[in-house]
Amino acid sequence: MAEKTYYITTPIYYVNDVPHIGHAYTTLACDMIARFKRLDGYDVLFSTGTDEHGQKVQKSAEKQKVAPQAFTDQVSQNFRDLSALMNFSNDVFIRTTEERHKAVAQKIWDLLQEKGHIYKDAYSGWYSVRDEAYYTEDELTTNEAGEKVAPTGAVCEWVEEPSYFFDLSKWQDRLLKFYEDNPEFIAPKSRRNEVVSFVKSNLQDLSISRTTFDWGVEVPNDPDHVMYVWLDALTNYLTVCDYFEERDKKAYWPADVHMVGKDILRFHAIYWPAFLLAAGIDPPKRVFAHGWWTIEGQKMSKSVGNVVAPKDLVDEYGLDQTRYFLLREVSFGQDGNFSKEGMAARINSDLSNDLGNLVQRVLSMVVKNCDQKVPSDEQVSAEDKLMLMEIAYRKLDLLREHIDQQALHKYIDVVWQISTEANKYIDTQAPWGLKKTDPARMEAVLYVLLEMIRMIAILVQPVIPDSGNKILDFLNIDQKMRDFKAIDSAFSLSSGDEIHKPTPVFPRFEA
Ligand code: MSP
Repeated sequence: MAEKTYYITTPIYYVNDVPHIGHAYTTLACDMIARFKRLDGYDVLFSTGTDEHGQKVQKSAEKQKVAPQAFTDQVSQNFRDLSALMNFSNDVFIRTTEERHKAVAQKIWDLLQEKGHIYKDAYSGWYSVRDEAYYTEDELTTNEAGEKVAPTGAVCEWVEEPSYFFDLSKWQDRLLKFYEDNPEFIAPKSRRNEVVSFVKSNLQDLSISRTTFDWGVEVPNDPDHVMYVWLDALTNYLTVCDYFEERDKKAYWPADVHMVGKDILRFHAIYWPAFLLAAGIDPPKRVFAHGWWTIEGQKMSKSVGNVVAPKDLVDEYGLDQTRYFLLREVSFGQDGNFSKEGMAARINSDLSNDLGNLVQRVLSMVVKNCDQKVPSDEQVSAEDKLMLMEIAYRKLDLLREHIDQQALHKYIDVVWQISTEANKYIDTQAPWGLKKTDPARMEAVLYVLLEMIRMIAILVQPVIPDSGNKILDFLNIDQKMRDFKAIDSAFSLSSGDEIHKPTPVFPRFEA
C-alpha cells in the first residue's frame, strides 16, 4: 500500500429507483476526486453501492410481487451498470444485503449496547417511508388531503411500536465540541451552520429498530426487531474498508470524504459521528453536501415525468460531454439546472472551441510542417519557459487545494485557463507566418504549444478521462508518463519523437 491513502465514498443508493442524473452526479464528483488522487500518487479506495433494506425497498418489492432479495438482486444491477456507463472508477460496489455487511452492522450494534448507549422502549410518532426518517410534530405541515408532510415534501405516517433507542440526546454537547474541534468536518460552510443550529435546537433519542416489517438486519439477540435502515446503511462505510477485519485495509479509516447530497446531510453529519463516537471509533474527516439538480428549471420528479436518465444524456451528447457539463456547470455545493441549451453551449464553447480546436490546430500544424514529429525546442526562449512554468507546471499545488476543498468547478477553471493562454499564444506568435521567415522559431512555438497540450491532457483526466487519454495518445505519451509526476519540465516532450495525426476530440453539437 502506498504511504498516502485516500478513502472516498458515495452514499449507497436506494434500489427502489432507477438511476437518474442526481445519482450519477454524486458518484461522478467522487470519481473526479478519486481519479485526481490516484494520479497524484495516493492509494485510493473509492466506494459506491446500494442500500437495500428497509420499508421503502420492501414496499417496492411487494408492489412488483417479487421477494425482496430477488428484487434487490435485480435492481442493484442498474447501479452497477451506471458505473460502466459513466466510466466511474469505483474500487468497490457494496450491497447491504451481503453477509459481511450484516455482520458489521450487528457488530456496531453490539458495541453501542456494550457501552450502554442503547435501551428498549416504544416509539410513537411520525415516520416517512420515502425519506426513511422520523420527524417531530413541529417539523410537519398538513397538505390538502389532510396528510402530515415533512419539510422534504414526503408524506408521514403515525407509527407506534416497540423499539430500541440510541441515546442521541446525550450527544449534543459532544457533537458541538466535535464540530468546533474539526471545523473542516462539514462542508460547505453554510451547511455546517445549518447542522450546528439543528444540533443546538433539538436532539432527541433516536429509534433504531423497527418491528412492523422484517426486511432488514436482525437486531442481535432480538429477532423481532430489524435495525433502522439508516444505522444499517451508514455502517457500509466500515464494511467497505474491512474496519473490523484486515489490518491492512483498515488503514483507510477514517474516510477522507463522505460525499452526499444536501438532503442526507443530517444523517451523515449528526447521527453517524454520534454512533461512531459512542462506539469508540473515529468519525470520518469530512462530509461534503452538494446541491440538487433541477431540469429546465423544474424539480425532477416521476409525476412531472421529467426524470433524466444518464443513459439518455450519454447517448445524445456523449460521455465526456456529459461528465464535463455536470462538473463544470455549477459551483460545486450549489444547486444546478440542467437545460438542453446549457448543455449545447458548454459543449460548443468550452469543449469544441477552446480545447478541441486548440488540439486540432496545433497537432495538424505539427503533422504538416514538422514531418509529424515533435519539433525542435532549440529556439524556445527564456520567456516561453517562464510562461510554461507559470501557467502550467506550477498549477498543481493550486489544483490540489481545489480538490481538497471539493471546489471541482474551480479545478476545471484553472485547467481551462491553460487552454485560453495557449490559444492567445497562437494568436500572438502566429506560427503559420513563421514558416517562411523563421522556421526554427516556428518549431519552438509549436513545441511550447504541444507542451501546453500535454499538460492540459494530463490534468483533464479526472474530469474527462477518455478525452484526456485520447489527446495523450496523439502525443504518443507512454502510459506510465500520464500521472502528475509528469507535470514537470523534466518530463517534457522529446524533439524528433513521432506523434499521431489528430482526429476531432469534441465535434460541435448540433441540435
Ligand atoms: N440510501 C440513502 C443513502 C444512504 S448512505 C449511507 C439515499 N439514497 S438515494 O438513492 O435516495 O439518494 C442518493 C443520492 O442521490 C443523495 O446524495 C441525493 O442527494 C442524490 N440525489 C437524488 N436526487 C438528486 C437531484 N435531483 N440532484 C442531485 N442529487 C440528487 O438517500
